[in-house]
Amino acid sequence: MIYLDNSASTNIKPKEVIKAVCDGLSTYTANPGRSGHKLSMKTALEVEKVREKVCNFLNAPQVVFTENCTDALNLAIQGTIVPKGHIICTINDHNASIRPIFEMQKKYGIEVSVAQPHSASGSLTIDDIAPLVKPNTYMICCNHISNVDGELTEIKEIGEFCSEHCITFLVDCAQSAGHIKIDMQKNYIDLLALAPHKALYAPQGIGVLAYTKKSKLMPIRYGGTGTESENIYQPLGTIETYESGTLPTPNILGLGAGIDFVNNHFDEIIEKIDDLSTYLNFELNNIDGVKVYTHPKNAFGVIAFNIKDFGSTEVSQLLSDKYNICTRGGLHCAGLKHKFLGTLEQGIVRASLSYFNSFSDCQKLVKAVKHISKYGN
Ligand code: ALA
Repeated sequence: MIYLDNSASTNIKPKEVIKAVCDGLSTYTANPGRSGHKLSMKTALEVEKVREKVCNFLNAPQVVFTENCTDALNLAIQGTIVPKGHIICTINDHNASIRPIFEMQKKYGIEVSVAQPHSASGSLTIDDIAPLVKPNTYMICCNHISNVDGELTEIKEIGEFCSEHCITFLVDCAQSAGHIKIDMQKNYIDLLALAPHKALYAPQGIGVLAYTKKSKLMPIRYGGTGTESENIYQPLGTIETYESGTLPTPNILGLGAGIDFVNNHFDEIIEKIDDLSTYLNFELNNIDGVKVYTHPKNAFGVIAFNIKDFGSTEVSQLLSDKYNICTRGGLHCAGLKHKFLGTLEQGIVRASLSYFNSFSDCQKLVKAVKHISKYGN
């Protein structure tokens, strides 16, 4: 089987990640941060080591563990709500941001504007966002790399703008973490969400929200924190504020090992994914009847394409059934992006790479696409 659906979730996990998860199931099995006994303390210490690792990886002042990236984005959006305020999001955003934002519009009447690119390059810049700002704008939310076509948004200039205008800057790094270096503080990011099961090679079932004090983040889930148990209200102002409930220690340890793996192999990972993305983009573009949506400059392992007017889900199914190649068709939970690209009906076939893909995997996809384009199946 050839797995080219790594933007949905990387399928091969490094052996170090598997070992760390197993350690969480065999050695560090007590509840971290609940009891005072040795095993609980030992487990809590390992969890805190990973927290520090994530902070260093992102140059983030503080991070909380969440269930997944959607959960992190919900916390960021719902936990900073300003009634009667205005949020700007973008057409690149995944429904993990779009839906909570529009739900807040429905529930609390916040105003929402959706920015879209106007430049010939198709990239979203601060020039597309700044004209939408109003006196009540309190948040700008964008993704770093689009999960649909791998489009990169230059976040630094947006971050600087937010910092100058006292606007909270939320960045969804689900697709970028592991593909590009991210410095939260240098980019003036206030809230940053991760999907570690993608290019950080971590297990599913763990997300991260990094935050700054400026974001004034409030909890959206309430429950036991292992602290101030006499208080019937949620204690505020600590990490535990946002982490009610038992943490998924095996997944957190897996995340720590995934970050080590990415840090230890970063240059190789980037070079390999860049080479394979460039190859696929060029070769698919040269096939009669194939349209590639990913700009060649965005070589972050996502190649979005269609074959003639064939439905993308049918093509993706055919690639799976007949050629044993896993891709993702359809709308990738990002309808606004597809509307912008004019692919709401057809969807897009997305091939997405990880460090564990080979040149031969990409050659096989090119061969299969050539065949489908010529013969229809
Ligand atoms: N957000 C994931 C994707 O792009 C699931 O496929």
